[in-house]
Amino acid sequence: MAEATTGFGVDIGGSGIKGARVDLVTGEFIGERIKILTPQPATPEAVSDVVAELLAQAEWEGPVGITVPAVVQNQIARSAANIDPSWIGTDCAELFANRLAVNGVPRSVAVLNDADAAGLAEAAYGDPRVRDGAVLLLTFGTGIGSALMVNGVLYPNSELGHLLFPAMDAEHWASSAVKEREDLSYREWARRVSRVLEEYLRILNPQRIVVGGGVSRKYEKWGPFLTVDAEVFPAVLRNRAGIVGAAAAVRDGVRP
Ligand code: BGC
Repeated sequence: MAEATTGFGVDIGGSGIKGARVDLVTGEFIGERIKILTPQPATPEAVSDVVAELLAQAEWEGPVGITVPAVVQNQIARSAANIDPSWIGTDCAELFANRLAVNGVPRSVAVLNDADAAGLAEAAYGDPRVRDGAVLLLTFGTGIGSALMVNGVLYPNSELGHLLFPAMDAEHWASSAVKEREDLSYREWARRVSRVLEEYLRILNPQRIVVGGGVSRKYEKWGPFLTVDAEVFPAVLRNRAGIVGAAAAVRDGVRP
């Protein structure tokens, strides 16, 4: 069978569930991205209902890659920082394969961590430097997501947003949600981000750091204030990365 050139990715976040058809050759969206608010509480059942609605709206019946903001091992969610705690222990593949079945046939799905999906997407379709050597990709959003890669190959489920820093999770101090909440200027926030990056550098010594998430769109406003002694550059796919990485993951049989 010829390799699929169109896929579909769904990115489950703390506030929105987003999905789009993806051109797997270029990494671009085909048509509109659909966004539906994340139900509260964001239980597995409620979230999978919304994903089903999203796919119905998109009229997509093929394989689906799905990201969750959680550690995923053997398709089982092992953490739940920004979603309902009832995800822990949930077999995500089983949940979505059944809830998204087409005419009674379980859907082909791949479920992976959101930042890992973003890392895979940036490596496949983004700046070529992302697939060169030891790279740390970070996504700044509600939390701080991380993907560790060597020559584009992923070490899954790193959770650097939860590094204690020094007394609380790094993401509770320097995510972009914190920037909004505390009304920090770009300069003030970049100072915090620099401190966090320095800590990551001290321990992991990546050759370069890629910063993603919505706020990377405005990188020119805060990037110049970063003081870390490392090659840092913004992600190319930014908010698209989770969806694109998910769509590519199901095609490639990535099942962390
Ligand atoms: C979660 C990670 C996720 C990150 C970004 C963190 O709170 O623990 O799994 O990648 O947020 O959404």
